Amino acid sequence: MQESFSEFRIRRGETAEGKAFEFASIAFRNLPFIEEFYFYESIDSTNERAKSGKIFSIFFAEEQKKGRGRLDREWISKKGGLYFSINLPLYSLTKLTLISALSVAEAFENARLKWPNDVLLFGKKFCGVLGETIGEKAIIGIGINVENDVREVSFACNLSSFYPVSREEAFERVTRNFAINYIDLLAGKWEELFARYVELCETVGRKVRVITPTGEIEGIAELGKDGAIVVDGKKIYSGDCVHIRTI
Ligand code: BTN
Repeated sequence: MQESFSEFRIRRGETAEGKAFEFASIAFRNLPFIEEFYFYESIDSTNERAKSGKIFSIFFAEEQKKGRGRLDREWISKKGGLYFSINLPLYSLTKLTLISALSVAEAFENARLKWPNDVLLFGKKFCGVLGETIGEKAIIGIGINVENDVREVSFACNLSSFYPVSREEAFERVTRNFAINYIDLLAGKWEELFARYVELCETVGRKVRVITPTGEIEGIAELGKDGAIVVDGKKIYSGDCVHIRTI
């Protein structure tokens, strides 16, 4: 049986007091293409909800009961984090996910990227991006640990351990960057965006193991100009990438 969650829809131009309107107004101000903002106090997964939503909508939740990560992993989504999914017209999912991770990394000093879409602070992950396509739609799901408890995940951290940033401020910075980067992507500036991604990416030049459904490959990582990882001459678009310590 499907659980029911209460949904609150806000259209561009509608204003009122309260948390949902506060986040919606940030989204509408920073993302000029967004028309509808859906707010959930609690939800299974914003990416799941986004599947039945229109292009140019955002699905935003205070917590997720079945948050999903890449490769069918769980994304623990307690209150205090940011969990949202943006519905966009279909485009290269690799490029959309990479510019999303870049938008988060460039919002916080010292943040670095791990291919393809993990954002790290001092070696620990505070953000992940899950890009999915459904029909003619790309769904970009972004999860950011802001002040949520992440102690049960050994490789995770939250922003508040390093910076006194509120969820509103984090959402403000990330959506502002995302709009600029997305508009640049559509304007044909992928190479410039990709160069900035590479600059912040800790995977490039590292010894890695990439695990794909068809096998594993180890070697020094490079990135192809289309955003794929290249290991030992092989191009891989989707897989689990592990940085191997060399000392
Ligand atoms: C990963 O690092 O594996 C990706 C994590 C993506 C999590 C976000 S939170 C909002 C959206 N809804 C989900 O269920 N997942 C994404």
